Amino acid sequence: MSKANNFFTTIKSHQKEKSKEKFKGFLKDFLIILEQDTSVCSLAHKRLYDALISHGMTRMDESDSRCRKLFNSEALRTYDYFQDTFFGMEISLNKIMRFLHSGAMKGEESRQVLLLLGPVGAGKSALVEHIKKALENAIDVYHIDGCPIREDPLHLVPRSLQDEFEKLYNIKIEGDLCPVCRYNLLEEYAGDYTKVPITQSSFSIRGRRGIGVVPPMDPNTQDTSILIGSEDISKMDLYSEDDPRVLSLNGAFNVGNRGIVEFVEVFKNEIEFLHTMITATQEKAVPSPGKQAMIYFDGVIISHCNEAEWNKFKAEHTNEAILDRIVRVNIPYCLEYDEEVKIYKKLLGSSDFNYHIAPHTLELASMFAVLSRLKPTNKADALTKMKIYNGEEIIEKGHIKKIDINDLREEVRDEGMTGISTRFIMKAIDNALADSNKNMITPISIRDSLIKQVKEQVNNEEDRKKYLLFLQKTLHEEYLRILEKEITKAFVSAYEEQAEALFNNYLDHAEAYVNATKVKDRVTNEEMEPDERFLVSIEEQIGIKGSAKNNFRSDISSYMFAKLRRGEVIDWRAYGPLKEAIENRLVTSVRDISRIVTKSKSRDNKQQRKYNEMVRTLMESYGYNENSAEEVIKFAANNLWRDS
Ligand SMILES: Nc1ncnc2c1ncn2[C@@H]1O[C@H](COP(=O)(O)OP(=O)(O)O)[C@@H](O)[C@H]1O
Ligand SMILES: [Mg+2]
Repeated sequence: MSKANNFFTTIKSHQKEKSKEKFKGFLKDFLIILEQDTSVCSLAHKRLYDALISHGMTRMDESDSRCRKLFNSEALRTYDYFQDTFFGMEISLNKIMRFLHSGAMKGEESRQVLLLLGPVGAGKSALVEHIKKALENAIDVYHIDGCPIREDPLHLVPRSLQDEFEKLYNIKIEGDLCPVCRYNLLEEYAGDYTKVPITQSSFSIRGRRGIGVVPPMDPNTQDTSILIGSEDISKMDLYSEDDPRVLSLNGAFNVGNRGIVEFVEVFKNEIEFLHTMITATQEKAVPSPGKQAMIYFDGVIISHCNEAEWNKFKAEHTNEAILDRIVRVNIPYCLEYDEEVKIYKKLLGSSDFNYHIAPHTLELASMFAVLSRLKPTNKADALTKMKIYNGEEIIEKGHIKKIDINDLREEVRDEGMTGISTRFIMKAIDNALADSNKNMITPISIRDSLIKQVKEQVNNEEDRKKYLLFLQKTLHEEYLRILEKEITKAFVSAYEEQAEALFNNYLDHAEAYVNATKVKDRVTNEEMEPDERFLVSIEEQIGIKGSAKNNFRSDISSYMFAKLRRGEVIDWRAYGPLKEAIENRLVTSVRDISRIVTKSKSRDNKQQRKYNEMVRTLMESYGYNENSAEEVIKFAANNLWRDS
């Protein structure tokens, strides 16, 4: 089928979907629907909560290593709707969902404003957009036909019958007819509420249906009509001033009725402007333009701002009334670099460039971002803290370093509210790409680009110094470690097998040493003494010397034995310190040859073959392309194995 045909089929089904009959009926028809599905009269918080939850919810459990290592094995909920779009944000998302859940149960939260507080580029706007989209894709809402605020059909039930209705349906009717509907009821339908038409419509951001947005307003042009609508001057000649027909109810609170009202950068606005927000929460009603009565409002109010604005606002004690109405949820930057990488993958995935990203590029940029966001501690250096926050084991002198992530977290408050933003990193990525004549970014080019950008844009002297130290020293060294390991892997043919063989040998000999027995050769069955030189050659790789070796050997033997007894499969990665020792041993074993082969000047034929083979492995197994492989090898030759 041609593309045109193909696409036309899509169009057809889309049109069919769109033209699905909307409900048209009267109170009686609506009550029949309500009987089958009470969710049609859910209030806004519940409707939104249900829409988000309908995509699925999972409880993290012990099998998830992030749950174990980062969240105290707490059975944190994760929400499928956010899973593929927002990363490292589980805790904030849990708080947001808890707010909506309580609101849905008609708790106090249904009368509060949700405030997302966080630094620039932490994803506040993106998060609110995503939440609004959930409503757009949710079910349609039933409302009185022609009502400018699409109000609940149940408002038609007269006061005197509401008790009766409540007993019958076990549903409490909240709110009252808006002035326009009241007028229509009396004038057009002679007060017969059973004749007022009811229909259905969808939520739409662009169509301003059920989703109202308040951008930050310039104080000079600030006008409450943005919030509550206005009186239409052109109609003022036709009707008297108190005639609802002059109302044009198109303010954000009118538009967002039954859905969401969003306040962008909320505290950039003047306080007076925000009073409507308080009224909306306290009284669940907003003023009407002109002389009409208050208009019932049912919606989720979501606002966001950064910390500077918030602090300024909080300091004014005249603002207490508003503060009292706010539920604040911090949206800090992500502090796990593995998750931070996913953010850039997502953002890059949506641009059209066709380029190559060398391995470890985004990882390095993310490490920098996280380092800049962490507060210092006496318990560990910055890089170590960063790795602990990423759920990694830290090996020191043959042991897994015992630093509890909770202790680190408790030392500081509001971590992640400062530092380098996602936008800063994205800009550096874009610049590195623009500067590349090979259409690629590598850890080397991204680091250069970040250094340049820090020098140009970070004005605070202390930050600037700190950031440059991270880039020029901490991460430079870290990358060299990563790179050396990678080159070794590409160099050592059958790396995994060799590592596994070293592991098995080590275990055999260490065990024999600990038990004062002999080692039986796996092939010949010959018995021999444990090979002390071999054991030491592994141990010295991680700085185990002298009598420390005894402990290390017995620790390992009992560790592996315990694992085997539990029926677990063990391999060379089973115990962090030993894994590191084996890797280092392999690195050392090829260091000399790596040095020679990577230096382009001194390669002979045989070495050139080895070089080509290594480049091929880097490309085929590790995700490099020819250019990036050559670039990192050159970098290794110049930085790793300097002739001394
Ligand atoms: N933790 C995160 N997970 C996924 N995307 C993120 C995250 N943090 C930031 N982003 C992305 O970074 C970009 C900038 O975020 P934005 O919502 O504009 O930030 P803010 O409104 O907080 O200044 C957005 O495209 C957003 O999707
Ligand atoms: Mg924003």
